Amino acid sequence: MNTDFKGKVIVLSGVGRAGQVGDFLARAFADQGGTLQLLGRNRAELDARAEELRASHASVETHACDLSDARAAEDAARAVAAQTDGRVDALVHVAGGFALSGPLAESSVDVWQQQLSINLGTAFATTRAFLPLVRAAKGCVLYFASAAALPGADVGGLSAYAVAKTGVVTLMRAVAAEEARNGLRANALAPAAIRTASNVASMGPNARYVEPAALCDVVLFLASPASRAVSGQVIAVG
Ligand SMILES: NC(=O)c1ccc[n+]([C@@H]2O[C@H](COP(=O)([O-])OP(=O)(O)OC[C@H]3O[C@@H](n4cnc5c(N)ncnc54)[C@H](OP(=O)(O)O)[C@@H]3O)[C@@H](O)[C@H]2O)c1
Repeated sequence: MNTDFKGKVIVLSGVGRAGQVGDFLARAFADQGGTLQLLGRNRAELDARAEELRASHASVETHACDLSDARAAEDAARAVAAQTDGRVDALVHVAGGFALSGPLAESSVDVWQQQLSINLGTAFATTRAFLPLVRAAKGCVLYFASAAALPGADVGGLSAYAVAKTGVVTLMRAVAAEEARNGLRANALAPAAIRTASNVASMGPNARYVEPAALCDVVLFLASPASRAVSGQVIAVG
């Protein structure tokens, strides 16, 4: 299987704190020679991740932005285009986050709006802004949905998150249908709990987790030409 990303431009959104998914994926793409364009909303964390990667000679640029803001996403896409001749081989949209909402009748409007904004709003704004760059490379878009968006998932207490991630799946299907004629693919991952620093802090080390290395293997496969026959799919992980 060829997952060599030398000469390929990878845009990774949602890169922030160490030990989270964006951190693992940035390292995995860098190890395979990818040219990285990292997006995140915390400039200090983003720059810290970039410095760690540059220490091992990775090619990395950063763009701090709030991706729920469509104009900020467009500005980030323009900045990336200027550094990549307008081409992006893979857009991996990791930005998002989890919060419990509790039973709907008692749930908070703020949690609802925040979950839709960080998970679905960012997916919409980032996709819309970056599609011309991905089209130019006949590349692919990869989304982070969740096991909570799979049919039959127990979504009690998680309505805002589950609705937002289900929306991400539908957005992915629309992109896959609309962009096939442009040679572009779109897929979504639906992971169970991942062994991230924040999950281990809240659930302990012995809970059942998807290991980061296993997750990265799936992402690299889906971002590579090895998966060229796969589009419009939701891939359960874990
Ligand atoms: N961890 C899991 O077990 C698990 C399971 C299934 C699916 N997922 C999904 O996989 C992805 C990565 O998970 P994770 O645990 O690594 O997530 P995370 O650390 O909570 O968040 C991912 C990153 O997205 C950034 N972000 C959030 N809203 C943003 C915005 N408006 N603009 C720009 N960046 C924004 C966050 O920045 P801040 O730090 O500033 O918030 C953070 O750096 C998420 O989409 C998550 O929902 C995770």
